[in-house]
Amino acid sequence: MNAQAQAAAPESYAAPQEFIAKAHVDAARYEEMYAASIADPDAFWGEHGLRLDWIKPYSRVKNTDFTFGQVSIKWFEDGTLNVAQNCVDRHLETRGDQTAIIFEPDDPNAPAQHITYRQLHDKVCRMANVLRSQGVTRGDRVVIYLPMIPEAAYAMLACARIGAIHSIVFAGFSPDALANRINDSAAKVVITADSAPRGGRKTALKSNTDAALLHCSDRVRCLVVKHTGDQTTWVDGRDVDVKALMDHAAPDCPAEEMNAEDPLFVLYTSGSTGKPKGVVHSSGGYLAYAAMTHQYTFDYHDGDIFWCTADVGWVTGHSYIIYGPLANGATTLMFEGVPTYPDAGRFWAVCEKHKVTQFYTAPTAIRALMGQGNGFVEKHDLSSLRLLGSVGEPINPEAWNWYNEVVGKGRCPIVDTWWQTETGGHLITPLPGAIPAKPGSATKPFFGVKPVVLEAESGKLIETPEAEGVLCIADSWPGQMRTVWGDHDRFQETYFQQYKGYYFSGDGCRRDADGYYWITGRVDDVINVSGHRMGTAEVESALVAHAQVAEAAVVGYPHDIKGQGIYAYVTLMNGVEPTDALRKELEAWVRTEIGPIAKPDLIQWAPGLPKTRSGKIMRRILRKIAENDYGALGDISTLADPSVVEDLIENRMNRG
Ligand code: WT7
Repeated sequence: MNAQAQAAAPESYAAPQEFIAKAHVDAARYEEMYAASIADPDAFWGEHGLRLDWIKPYSRVKNTDFTFGQVSIKWFEDGTLNVAQNCVDRHLETRGDQTAIIFEPDDPNAPAQHITYRQLHDKVCRMANVLRSQGVTRGDRVVIYLPMIPEAAYAMLACARIGAIHSIVFAGFSPDALANRINDSAAKVVITADSAPRGGRKTALKSNTDAALLHCSDRVRCLVVKHTGDQTTWVDGRDVDVKALMDHAAPDCPAEEMNAEDPLFVLYTSGSTGKPKGVVHSSGGYLAYAAMTHQYTFDYHDGDIFWCTADVGWVTGHSYIIYGPLANGATTLMFEGVPTYPDAGRFWAVCEKHKVTQFYTAPTAIRALMGQGNGFVEKHDLSSLRLLGSVGEPINPEAWNWYNEVVGKGRCPIVDTWWQTETGGHLITPLPGAIPAKPGSATKPFFGVKPVVLEAESGKLIETPEAEGVLCIADSWPGQMRTVWGDHDRFQETYFQQYKGYYFSGDGCRRDADGYYWITGRVDDVINVSGHRMGTAEVESALVAHAQVAEAAVVGYPHDIKGQGIYAYVTLMNGVEPTDALRKELEAWVRTEIGPIAKPDLIQWAPGLPKTRSGKIMRRILRKIAENDYGALGDISTLADPSVVEDLIENRMNRG
C-alpha cells in the first residue's frame, strides 16, 4: 500500500514557505538540535527541562539503565516541582484571563464554555480541597471515570496538586474493567458522573460505578459529578456530590512539593498477555516531554487554538489535551461528543466555531468522515486551520490525501505522530517546518530519540540505511514510562527482555533510504481497533468465561474504517448448538465483560483450532484465514490435525 502510494504521489510534501518561515524549527535547526540531543543528552535535556518551573532545581539530568534485570529510568531525579502549579498557577500572572480550556458540549445547541487560567485555578483548588476532605493524600490513587467534561481536567490537576496519582478509566469501559482497575491500583476514591451524553445518547456512568464497587473494598469513596441531572441511586456515607462540595470549598489550596520521579498517573493499557498493565508516568520527565513535543510537533504559538479529539481516557488525551498544552499556557479544546452527531460535519463545525488552528485526530475518524462525502467539510470555513495531526495507527494514503486536500486544502502540513501509552509523548513524528511528510510515514525521530531496527528473529541490529524489522529504541527519553504499577518484573519482561539493551516497542517498521520510518503495525498479539489497543488474550479470556464456550482464539483482520477488526474463532462446549442467537449473546457478553470497543466484529464457529503437537495455537494460520489470504498458509505440517484448517477455510467469515 505504501509503495503504491509513493509511486502515484509526489515523493514528499513540505510545508508552505510561509509556514516554515514562522515555525519554531526549520530543517537546519532540526538537524542541529537532533545531533546535539544525541551527542549529549544531559546537556540537551538539562537545558530543555528548564521549560518547567522547579521548586528545587535538579542537579542530575539523566540516570537510566536498559540492562535487563536492572532496568531503571530516572530523569531530573533530585528536582522537585508540582505539575498543577506548572499547568495553572505559573500562567496566572501573564495569562490569567486567557482561555485555558474551551469546552464544547455534546449538544451543539448547548453553550460552549471558555475557562480562563484564573477560573481553572479556582476550580482545581476547590476540587483538590474536596479530595483532601475525603482523606486523599500524596501517593494515594484516585480513579477517574468521567465523560469529556471540564471536571475531568479539574480532577486530574487536583490530584497533581495534592500529589495523588490519578488513573483514568475510559468511560466506554464496563463495570468489570473499572473494578479491576480500582482494585489493581488500590484506589481510595473513584470520581464519576451521573451519566455521559455522547451523540445524543447517554451512558449511565454512576450505575456502572455502582456495579463496579460491588467488587471493591467498602472503603472506596464515590465522588459524583452531577452533570446531566439524571436520577441515580445514592449510597449515603459512600457517595459524595462533588459540585456541591466544590461550591463550599476554599478557592485556594497549597501545591505539594513533589519529586520529579513521583508518579503523576497510572494508565492501564492492553498487552499481548494477561490483564491490562498499569503504565506509570513520572511528574518531571513526563511533563517536560509532553510540553516540548506539544510545542514542536504542532508548532504551537501563543494565540493558537489547539484541538486534540482524543478522549482523556487514553494517553493522547492526557498528553495533548491536558498536560502538554496547559504546561505551555495554551488554549486547548475539549469536546464531549462524537464526530457524527448531529451529523458528519461536527468536527468541521467545531473547527469553524472556535477558529481551531491545530487539529489532531485518528485515521479511523478520518476514514469514517471521508466515507460521508466532501459536502460535510465544504459547508464549513476551515481557514483558521494551520496544521493537521494523525495518531493511533498508520494512516493509509487515501485517507492522508483526503485529509490533506479536502480538510487542509493543501496548505496545512500533516504530522503523523508515532508513539504509545508507554512513551508519554511523540517519538517519531515530523516537525512540520523541518521535515517534509511522506504519506503513511511517521518520518523521523523527535529530539533525543534513537530508533533502531532489529531483525525480528535474531535481534541483530540492522545498520544499513534501508531496513525492515522490529522497532526498538536504543536509549531513554524523559517521557518514558517508569514501571508497571506494582510489577517491575513485568515491566522489564515486556519491554527489555526479548531484545537486550533496547526498549522494544512491539511494532514492526521499515526505514527507507532517506531515514524515514514507516510503521507496519504490531508484531505481537495486540490489535489496533480504531486506534485503540486491544490484547487478543483479553478478548479470548472474556469469551472463554462464557459457560458455553470451550475455547477461543482472537486475531485482527483488515477493516475499512477501524483499521483492524476483531475476528474470533470460537469452539463451543460439547453439544451446544451454534446459533445466530448465541453469536449475538457472545457479542453482548464481551461488551459487558470489557466494553463496546472489544466486541468481536466476526465470530466463526470452530469445531477445532489449528494446534501444534505441543498444543500451541498457530495464530499465524488463523490470521491468514481471517485476512481471507488462505492460499498462503505456509507450512502446516507441524499441526496435530491439519484437517481442521480445511473446515476453517470453508467457513471463513471474511470473504471481502
Ligand atoms: C500503538 C500504541 C499514543 C498514541 C495512541 C495509541 C500504534 C500509534 C501510530 C502512528 C502507526 C501508530 C502502534 C503503537 N500507533 N500511532 N502514527 N503510525 N502506528 O496509543 O494505545 O498505546 O497504542 O498504536 O502500533 O504501538 P496506544
